[in-house]
Formats: sequence, C-alpha cells, structure tokens
Amino acid sequence: MKERLFSGIQPTGNLHLGNYLGAVKNWIALQDDYDAFFCVVDLHAITLPQDPEQLRSKIVELTRVYLASGIDPVKSTIFVQSDVSGHAELAWLLNTIARMGDMEKMTQFKDKSTKEGSERSSVGLFDYPVLMAADILLYDSEIVPVGDDQRQHIELTRTLARRFNERFEETFVVPKGDIREEGMRIMGLDDPTKKMSKSASSEYNYIALSDAPDVIRKKIMKAVTDSEPTITYSDDRAAVKNLLTIYSLLSEKSITEIVSLYEGKGFGDFKKDLAEVVVDFILPLQERMNALTDADVELILTQGAQKAEMISSKKIRAVKNVMGLGVTK
Ligand code: AMP
Ligand code: TRP
Repeated sequence: MKERLFSGIQPTGNLHLGNYLGAVKNWIALQDDYDAFFCVVDLHAITLPQDPEQLRSKIVELTRVYLASGIDPVKSTIFVQSDVSGHAELAWLLNTIARMGDMEKMTQFKDKSTKEGSERSSVGLFDYPVLMAADILLYDSEIVPVGDDQRQHIELTRTLARRFNERFEETFVVPKGDIREEGMRIMGLDDPTKKMSKSASSEYNYIALSDAPDVIRKKIMKAVTDSEPTITYSDDRAAVKNLLTIYSLLSEKSITEIVSLYEGKGFGDFKKDLAEVVVDFILPLQERMNALTDADVELILTQGAQKAEMISSKKIRAVKNVMGLGVTK
C-alpha cells in the first residue's frame, strides 16, 4: 500500500513559474511513489471575493495546467474541492476543535487581511487554515508537498489532528509537510526580496504560464540583476541567484554547470539564453493545455470527484460517529 499524498492550488490569478517550480514540478516526481490527490481548492479561492464566471474558467484552466504538466489521472486523483461535500463538512467539525489562540497566530491571515482591514475581511479568510486541515485529514494523508509559505498551516493541521485524537479516539493520521529546499521560493523578477506572486502589482514580477514567447523574452531581459558584471551564485546576490535557480530547474543543468558556461560572458548572453530556456519549457506546456478539450477535463474531474467522495464520505461518517453526532448510519 502506497502512502497517501495531498496537495492543492487555488484557482485564482495568473499561474506563474513560481507555482510550477515550487509546487507542480515536485508533484510530478512524487506521483509514482504515493497515492496522490491533487485538488483544485475553489472553496479556498472564495475566501476573497471572486467573479463567478471567472472562477469557473480558472478551475478548468488550473486543471489543464495540472494535466499538461504531467499529472497523470490514471495514477493520481485530480478533483475540485467543492465537488466533494466532506471538505466543508469536516472544516465545520474541526472549527470546534481549533482555538482562537491557534488561529490568531496565523500570519497569512494577517498578510491577506491588511489590504481590506481585518474588520472587512470574511470569516472564511480567517478560517482558511482549518479548511486546509480538513482537506488533508479527510484522506488520511501522510505527506503534504507545499511551498515554504504553507509551513504554519501544516503545523496547525498536525495540532488539530493530535488534539482530536486525544479528545475522542484515534481518528486522524498526523501528516507531514514535504517542503523542498530548492525552488522552494522563486523570487520576483522585478524585486528579488519578495516572492514571485500572482497578485504582484507589476506584470514584470512574474512569468505567467500563459505568457507569449515575446512577453517572456521581454520580462527576462528586464529582470533586475545587480552592479557586478559576472555571473556567480551567492546568497548575497539574490537576483542572480534567483535567475540561476530558474535556469537550473528548467534546463536540468546544475548551477555549477551553468556558472561555468557563462564564465567571461555578461548578462546579455545569459538572459538571452535563459529566455529561450523558459520559452522552450512554456510553449510545449501551452500546446498540451490547448490540446485538452473541455470534455476531457470534465470527465477527469468527474471521475476524480467520485473517487474522492468514496473515501471522504467514509471518513466523515467515522468522525461524526466518534463525536456522537447524527443518528442515521
Ligand atoms: P498560491 O499561488 O499562493 O495559491 O500557491 C500555490 C502553490 O505554489 C503553493 O504550494 C505555493 O507555496 C507555491 N508558490 C506560490 N508562489 C511561489 C513562489 N514564488 N515560489 C515557489 N512556490 C510558490
Ligand atoms: N493553502 C494552500 C496554498 O495557498 C492551498 C491548499 C489548500 C492546500 N488546501 C491544501 C495545499 C491542502 C496542500 C494541502 O498554497
């Protein structure tokens, strides 16, 4: 029996290279070794206001990215969170286990609520980490590959699982995060001190997976570097380090190899080649995305939801049972 793996991405904004390198690329390598569940977390997306029509098209687009990147629906289960009722239901049950003290520590709420002010933020945004815990615990997931920014949410998930098991009966598997060092945090092309983000104010911050080749070239050529003329890898040179990381992860060449390739050359040559490396990755990805029909996507999501429903509904019954809820079996 393979261990269960769970991860998800929100269907919002423009998916970018940071999402691919920090999340999806790792998933592809893991799907042979684990019983993997990859979710399109639309219930998380609505913790901030979304346009309904746009949300639906983003759900389909994200599923296309999963599939075109190499997630194999025969090996892995791909589904949409709101298609499976157990996620919202378990989130409610776990809400009664989570304490205000746990939740008030969550830094993502503080970050995301500063724009609107916490007074105007939805209760859903505050509760976001509990819904994430429900996603993971619903499937007895053992491993959760995520970016560095999700570390705190994984810790909360472990706390809730342990607390529940102690208060009632041993019900939940206590999961582990799988947080990768390399490619963990791809930084903004315009500002290497902040991570590449789909909500960045300038489009020169990120390479979207939907960017056209000329746009990609322009963005790479404009990427900030520093005043040193040579290409070397060091923690003190955040911008260059970031570009080298992207180059290495997409070309499968080691950083040392790349550095020696550009010895005696300048950033002009380096950036031109890097742009081609990125284009050579993104163009075929876009072609594979376009080749998938709406009917393909719908079928895969329907089958995925059926499988997820089967597993999660058993878990919900078990949880309600140990909590003394409900009368029908
Ligand atoms: P988000 O776009 O914030 O919903 O994140 C989706 C997934 O991509 C999560 O696993 C994030 O940790 C990861 N991710 C987002 N931005 C970056 C980035 N700049 N570098 C690496 N991983 C990222
Ligand atoms: N909160 C995660 C993010 O923003 C997405 C997510 C929701 C998730 N549920 C999850 C990730 C369960 C892993 C497991 O990246």
